[in-house]
Amino acid sequence: MSYEFSTIIEPFRIHSVEPLRMTTPERRRAAIGEAGYNLFSLHADDVLIDLLTDSGTGAMSRDQWAAIQHGDESYAGSPSWFRFEAAVKDLFPFRHVIPTHQGRAAEKILFTAVGGPGRVVPSNTHFDTTRANVEATGAEAVDLVIAEGLDPSSLHPFKGNMDLEALDGLLRERGADVPVVMVTITNNSGGGQPVSLENLRGISAICRRHGVPLFLDACRFAENAWFIHEREAGQGDRDVADIVREIAGLADGMTMSAKKDPFGNIGGWLALNDDDLAERCRNLLILTEGFPTYGGLAGRDLEALAQGLSEAVSHDYLRYRIRSTTYLGDALDRAGVPVVKPIGGHAVYLDARALLPHIAPLAYPGQALAVALYEAGGVRSVEIGSVMFGRHPDGSEHPAPLELVRLAIPRRTYTQSHIDYVIEVVTAVACDAQSLRGYQMVYEPPALRHFTARFEPLG
Ligand code: F0G
Repeated sequence: MSYEFSTIIEPFRIHSVEPLRMTTPERRRAAIGEAGYNLFSLHADDVLIDLLTDSGTGAMSRDQWAAIQHGDESYAGSPSWFRFEAAVKDLFPFRHVIPTHQGRAAEKILFTAVGGPGRVVPSNTHFDTTRANVEATGAEAVDLVIAEGLDPSSLHPFKGNMDLEALDGLLRERGADVPVVMVTITNNSGGGQPVSLENLRGISAICRRHGVPLFLDACRFAENAWFIHEREAGQGDRDVADIVREIAGLADGMTMSAKKDPFGNIGGWLALNDDDLAERCRNLLILTEGFPTYGGLAGRDLEALAQGLSEAVSHDYLRYRIRSTTYLGDALDRAGVPVVKPIGGHAVYLDARALLPHIAPLAYPGQALAVALYEAGGVRSVEIGSVMFGRHPDGSEHPAPLELVRLAIPRRTYTQSHIDYVIEVVTAVACDAQSLRGYQMVYEPPALRHFTARFEPLG
């Protein structure tokens, strides 16, 4: 007799634990006031369940900690570097791998080399640091996600896809000004939504026809490949690692934050095929990050990432990972909380515009919701809306296309009971949505304002 069970089992057991600190609503109200109502400014000790980001916050495995003991800290030519390079090339067989301390350092190097005034860089949706690094060179960052990607209720299975006609049109008109096309897998700013293999093949064909290189922003490549495995016709029998290698083969290079799918607490890389561009990038690397066999990383970090990369493509892990994110999203959906659907890979995105129609976009409904979740239950999330994307390089402020609050799930870190608690907190706050009020920004820095802005409640 063989049975089928539906309970999601974490494919690991707990080997070392970290305490969580319980706080009171009074303490949390005081803490968020002192933080200028910006969740980035809290002391993490004052947070009970931290869903601010899935970046660098995952639990490393026993085998990663063991690999750390093999870290060789030679300045040049460390064996740890060669292990790391081999692990990267096993999945992403680009000619050159350039290690960096995290993803945005790879972006900074790439766009310093290829950006500049008059240039335009299309993507499905640029992540905030990618957009900022493109714009910092004077170039223009353009988002070309399909229309369904901007509709929180559309059930399209690959809402991260790029609009191929729009890409072709842009390259026909301004191809000479486009140094690279980027594609973010999964599309973080658009709801953690995947890009299909078919779309990636289409993007690649258009780029090749116009002679423009294609770069992946591949932070969540394994989750994206799992969605392809699960949702795309003809892909269900393939090994995820094999799908990843095909995706890499469609591109000419990649930027990577190894703080996501590769289970690093720190790390990243830039990889590419073009020899001349690689040399220019390596020279920039030496200026800012370090020698090309360690970048901004210690030998032990390189070891942890090499091991993490092999764990990231495990089918048991990915099945658990995607199903447990869906568990949170489906429970909120059933409770009537508006969420971006289908549920993404690394996070559940609450639709603050739908939940708080009485708060104007530039009174920041997402920020109001994120603050309320913290005050109510000590749950830290992040606004992805007009606070993050409302300010433009010309100084103007416009509402962002979506007002979202992201509940990002650190990898292998929280159990199902933590998530059940989050479901209770979000549902309780949503039931009281009418009582929430907007915010005004009383301080903002010149770029990436969401990290350090300060707010005051309105009315
Ligand atoms: N690209 C994407 C799609 C990202 O999600 C991130 C980081 C980066 C690039 C930059 O990488 O942080 O290593 O410099 N995302 C984190 C987040 C911060 O919370 O989504 P980094």
